[in-house]
Amino acid sequence: MADEQSPNGSNDANGAQEQDSGAASKRGIWGSKAGFILAAAGSAIGLGNIWRFPTEAANNGGAAFLLVYLACVVLIGLPVMLAEITLGRHTRKDPVGAFKAICPRSLWWLVGALGVVTGLAILSYYSVVAGWTLGYVVRTAGHTFTSDSDPNAIFGAFSCCWWQQILYHLIFMALCVAVVMGGVRAGIERWSKILMPTLLVMLGLLVVRSVTLPGAGRGLAFYLEPDFSKLDFKVIVAGLGQAFFSMSLGMGAMITYGSYLSRKDNLVTSATWVGLADTGIAILAGFMVLPALAIAGITPGVDEGGAGMIFTVLPSVFSQMPWEPYGGIVFGTAFFILLALAALTSAVSLLEVVTAYLVDERKWPRKRATAAVGGLALIVGVPSALGCGAVACLSKVVELQGKSVGFLELMDKVFGKLTLTLGALLISLVVGWVWGIGKAKDEIRHGNSGFAVLGSVWSFLLRFLCPLAIATILVFLIIDPGAIR
Ligand code: PHE
Repeated sequence: MADEQSPNGSNDANGAQEQDSGAASKRGIWGSKAGFILAAAGSAIGLGNIWRFPTEAANNGGAAFLLVYLACVVLIGLPVMLAEITLGRHTRKDPVGAFKAICPRSLWWLVGALGVVTGLAILSYYSVVAGWTLGYVVRTAGHTFTSDSDPNAIFGAFSCCWWQQILYHLIFMALCVAVVMGGVRAGIERWSKILMPTLLVMLGLLVVRSVTLPGAGRGLAFYLEPDFSKLDFKVIVAGLGQAFFSMSLGMGAMITYGSYLSRKDNLVTSATWVGLADTGIAILAGFMVLPALAIAGITPGVDEGGAGMIFTVLPSVFSQMPWEPYGGIVFGTAFFILLALAALTSAVSLLEVVTAYLVDERKWPRKRATAAVGGLALIVGVPSALGCGAVACLSKVVELQGKSVGFLELMDKVFGKLTLTLGALLISLVVGWVWGIGKAKDEIRHGNSGFAVLGSVWSFLLRFLCPLAIATILVFLIIDPGAIR
């Protein structure tokens, strides 16, 4: 187990680390395997599971989407996650440095650079949505939602209020910078250990309330009874994109987190635990949100839910908690606090990718790098903050399939779906073909000597299935960009 580390993220080398170079021992390292799993699960579990997954499921056919999503997680997400963690631990570098280390004198480092840019872009709008959860902590605590309030009107007024949008975005980004400045272990690992289990319990309780609400049956049927006529190319694009976003893949977050892992750790079980935890929470979130859609006046599969969907749906659940109004106030407030904290552990991993790049490659001091990246993401996020109603031209930037798309949604389509998918394709190609699957397997065998049968399955999935499936989808997307919805 690693010794205590200094606040800047460095610590003493542990037994397994001693064989590593001096440069490596200057980097932070997770305190234990559980520490890594919790931190990586902290990165994976966030708004992607609770805000994005139910919205995507509602817009893409419910149960049909769920099936596609699960297939994408198992057949594509998990292999890519193992590839990223392996690459990170082997090179002990940020994404750009990792590609430079395995493919020197080539242009493959651009894959890492794409990840760094994607990380910054996702962070910019992620912080806006996370700011909404902070705004909702205040609203639920102040008993804004009663059985006769209109959640749609409340969300509309909130998203149109420019100063609140900027203020909450600023507060969230400042929190994020504060955690990352604390360094890898002190900042990230400790929080995740408490947060993730609490979130799970809270979700469980809310699911019980949601599935027992009057009228829940229709939402449950939509979520669990697949209607294969809904299964089209758009659903596959959405399922794959959601798998990458939710598992924090395709931009080097898992390369960066893997770079703080010790040689003793079993990468296969670590990746599997992270994937299981992430998918489990997403499925639970579906059970919480989809049955409640009807109460909010949304017909799943007919009405499209926008970026604010869960913020209009969940208050109806809270206003029907037992011990009115206290049950709703306590549960609602606690839920939004936990969601904000889960978003924080994810946003921290986005910020960490860009920070690690500046620290490792550009030799910036950690604190300066963190503040600069946080400041930049704050500015880049302003149009997203104003693009959900506050400023008309930013709220309707393009027209896609007859539907006007706001700046925040556009950012999510381009960076949360397109470049993540492209990044995952390139990562699977580099690890599977350029660096070489044999070297990757050797790295995995530190900490997991019996990686024979599973190793062949992984190698097949990573070298053949992942690139072919992802590339096919990207080619179709070039032909029909409107399929990203
Ligand atoms: N996986 C995170 C979530 O579900 C978001 C994220 C995406 C984090 C990509 C890092 C990288 O909220």
